[in-house]
Amino acid sequence: MAQEKADFIEIQTPEGTQQTMPVEPENRFSASHVTISLCEVKDVDRVAEGLYACFPESWWAIKEPLELRPLEQITRQTRLAARLRPSFSCPEMKWIKATLNSTGEIIGVAGWMVPGAPVHNIWRKSAAAFYGWQDKFGWTDDEFEEWWQGPALDWDEEFEKNDGYRKELLGDEPHWYLTPLLTFPEHQGKGVGKRLLDWAIDQADATDPVTPMYLESAPTAKAVYMHVGFVEQSAGYNFLRRGPLVAKETSKDKAEKLQVKVEEKKSAEV
Ligand SMILES: CC(C)(COP(=O)(O)OP(=O)(O)OC[C@H]1O[C@@H](n2cnc3c(N)ncnc32)[C@H](O)[C@@H]1OP(=O)(O)O)[C@@H](O)C(=O)NCCC(=O)NCCS
Repeated sequence: MAQEKADFIEIQTPEGTQQTMPVEPENRFSASHVTISLCEVKDVDRVAEGLYACFPESWWAIKEPLELRPLEQITRQTRLAARLRPSFSCPEMKWIKATLNSTGEIIGVAGWMVPGAPVHNIWRKSAAAFYGWQDKFGWTDDEFEEWWQGPALDWDEEFEKNDGYRKELLGDEPHWYLTPLLTFPEHQGKGVGKRLLDWAIDQADATDPVTPMYLESAPTAKAVYMHVGFVEQSAGYNFLRRGPLVAKETSKDKAEKLQVKVEEKKSAEV
């Protein structure tokens, strides 16, 4: 039987942006259209291409300011791929891809840090020293610095802050951590992202007790995560999932409703 359309979850998004929408049943890729599998190291170039294609310029403008960018986009892409390549063979990270069977093209990607991995995002410049990549791969300082020409000097700051929130919430509790999720624009809204999420959700829910899952969401993507049971946390963009309970409202909505109830009660008491 065809999968039904998801109940719509409405979220607030910044002006000029659009939230994701439930998959229309007639647009959905069937299991025979798409294969979900582990990435190989050679896939890193396509992943770097996807990161520039899928994440908005407003995000990249902060991370890689225009004045620091090389003239050629391909140089930018090659550098990003070089920075991420070690994470494609490190035990702490599983990169998952969705491949369109008819063309063999990668159309979606998820980066999952596995339960038990330390709280240190592989995106950080400091990850090279933290995970011992520079020694392991024998990079020279010059080539390492060349790959890091382009990112803002404070590239690590936001990631470090987010690792702090994650540590605060989960401590040493083993958890899945999603960083990042993307579907190439022409294939969005067809169920690809959900399949990439399910790869880890199925494993997280199969343990007893269930393994927590954590992520930071783009403002436009929150409904995707709430639809599969992630619950918004205090930073407003960080989400935690403990099993398959589906959250229909953000915690902010809940807090506002609670406030209204408190005020109603107070006025009834007067
Ligand atoms: C976010 C993103 C990865 C989603 O990928 P996608 O392939 O378009 O997602 P899907 O089509 O699989 O939709 C995901 C699920 O959420 C559901 N969904 C999406 N928006 C929804 C909404 N507003 N209300 C309820 N459900 C919603 C879909 O119906 C689907 O669930 P289903 O398969 O059970 O029906 C994609 O939009 C993207 O790459 N965006 C740019 C990069 C980005 O923002 N990444 C996320 C960063 S955290």
